[in-house]
Amino acid sequence: MNETIEQLLSRNSAPKLTSPGPDPATLDYMFRAALRAPDHAWLQPWRFLTLEGEARERLGEVFLESRLQDDPGIDDAARERALAAPLRAPLLVVVICRYTEHPKVPRQEQIISAGCAAHALLLAAEAQGYAGIWRTGSYTEDPLVAHELGLESNESIVGFLYFGSREGRAKPLPERKVEDFVQAWSP
Ligand SMILES: Cc1cc2nc3c(=O)[nH]c(=O)nc-3n(C[C@H](O)[C@H](O)[C@H](O)COP(=O)(O)O)c2cc1C
Repeated sequence: MNETIEQLLSRNSAPKLTSPGPDPATLDYMFRAALRAPDHAWLQPWRFLTLEGEARERLGEVFLESRLQDDPGIDDAARERALAAPLRAPLLVVVICRYTEHPKVPRQEQIISAGCAAHALLLAAEAQGYAGIWRTGSYTEDPLVAHELGLESNESIVGFLYFGSREGRAKPLPERKVEDFVQAWSP
């Protein structure tokens, strides 16, 4: 098995992340990998925001605002969870799909491309000794969060990617049998 296949087969999301986060050179390779995602008509339907340090605290405030908008009566623990959510990793990357109207490339394809870019970010982080996890949740869909992050009307959040160093041991990976998912189609 070559190194690339080995890496594809062993990618393992890390819910617990700590410092250090990816250094600038590592991050540059991560984004270069993301920019090689398959992309119908080369529309490049993506852009990325990086959040480190205090920017994560500000995002926590935005998350709290979003939660309160849905339910003004949330308890203190829920408030704390919203505020602390972005602090679960030293680096967050918001993956944004930037949709361009095109006669042959529907929105869904552009979102898939941005999703492939997200996968590439995760793989490239792990390949360089870091770890990450893709998270979404209600914040991804909330116009308030989109507005605070500066999204335009043709843009949507594909995910909040959390990156850092893996804390604790990697979880065992599930056994999946190829034959359960793959059939040769015969007409
Ligand atoms: C689009 C998308 C959204 C996700 N959102 C969340 C999330 O909000 N919270 C979470 O714990 N995991 C979320 N996950 C799942 C994790 O990223 C991860 O895939 C899962 O924990 C399984 O681990 P594995 O990737 O190592 O198999 C999401 C995955 C995808 C693809």
